[in-house]
Amino acid sequence: MRFGVLTGGGDCPGLNAVIRAIVRKGVDDYGDALAGFRDGWRGVLEADHMELTHEATAGILPRGGTILGTSRTNPYKDDDGLQRVRDTFESLRLNGLIAIGGEDTLGAAHRLHQDGLSILGVPKTIDNDLGATDVTFGFDTALQIATEAIDRLHTTAESHHRILIAEVMGRGAGWIALHAGVAGGADVILIPERPFDIGEVCRSLRRRHARGRNFSIVVVAEGAVPRGDQGPSASQQTDEFGHVRLGGVGHWLERQIEERTGFETRATVLGHIQRGGAPTASDRVLATRLGLAAIDAAHEGKWGTMASLRGTRIELVALADAVAEPRTVPPEDYESFESLFS
Ligand code: F6P
Repeated sequence: MRFGVLTGGGDCPGLNAVIRAIVRKGVDDYGDALAGFRDGWRGVLEADHMELTHEATAGILPRGGTILGTSRTNPYKDDDGLQRVRDTFESLRLNGLIAIGGEDTLGAAHRLHQDGLSILGVPKTIDNDLGATDVTFGFDTALQIATEAIDRLHTTAESHHRILIAEVMGRGAGWIALHAGVAGGADVILIPERPFDIGEVCRSLRRRHARGRNFSIVVVAEGAVPRGDQGPSASQQTDEFGHVRLGGVGHWLERQIEERTGFETRATVLGHIQRGGAPTASDRVLATRLGLAAIDAAHEGKWGTMASLRGTRIELVALADAVAEPRTVPPEDYESFESLFS
């Protein structure tokens, strides 16, 4: 059979491991031909593709990024998008398509499936915010990178008696901030799910310093917001799915904390460092398992589903459930760590 494969949205360590697993099992076990679309939905709209063979995918397992390229193209942005996707299915004689992506890419996959196309999904995102799966690959790698950065900030904060702030990614979910903050022993962790009071943040830092500590680590998620309307001004830039570009809260906090407490404060924005480079072993294994499950599901004609990690097992869930709403940090998860903060 002939299937298409695409990677869409922000890239994520482990994408190549999924592609490799699909190709290995598809070619060796099923005798499939696989068309890899370049740059997510853009490649499908323009029928821009490459043949995914053993040779084309050799050596990619440990490599970050995606050999297919990616984009935030929304196939429904233009009126003729659906027809162009149909035309590509027709001209390349596709039996179906495996879309590897996050909320936006899989949201489009779900809509296309509802419009009659044979599509299934594989979840990816460093943000770990997709529903209907316990975890997404890429998160573990981002967590390792953020934790290592916090460890490094710790030693320099201690030496200079400073407050150092690490701003991490995650969009509207605080998974990276909470887990990296806990793993790195942060004194304050600010996540989007809990609007924070800047006065209370400064009071807790002052209390810690009054107890004899002369440095602190603050981890803030890029989507964290102060209560009231005094936060950093939101960016006007949006992508094709309508998401604004986040970032800036770290430097806003730097100014606020220094002015209000008098403690020397500096912010570091980890940015795309969190997404680049080699996946951890755990992400490679998860990505491989999902890729193998996806090609099996394609042969079983399980369109409109997504391969998902449930407990320790890989299962198929409805794409509709995966994209219904983002999976954010439950209050009790945050509260369970609260006694560790300053
Ligand atoms: O969704 C993954 C993510 O890395 C978010 O954490 C972040 O807000 C966004 O993508 C950044 O996107 P871009 O690649 O457009 O800078």
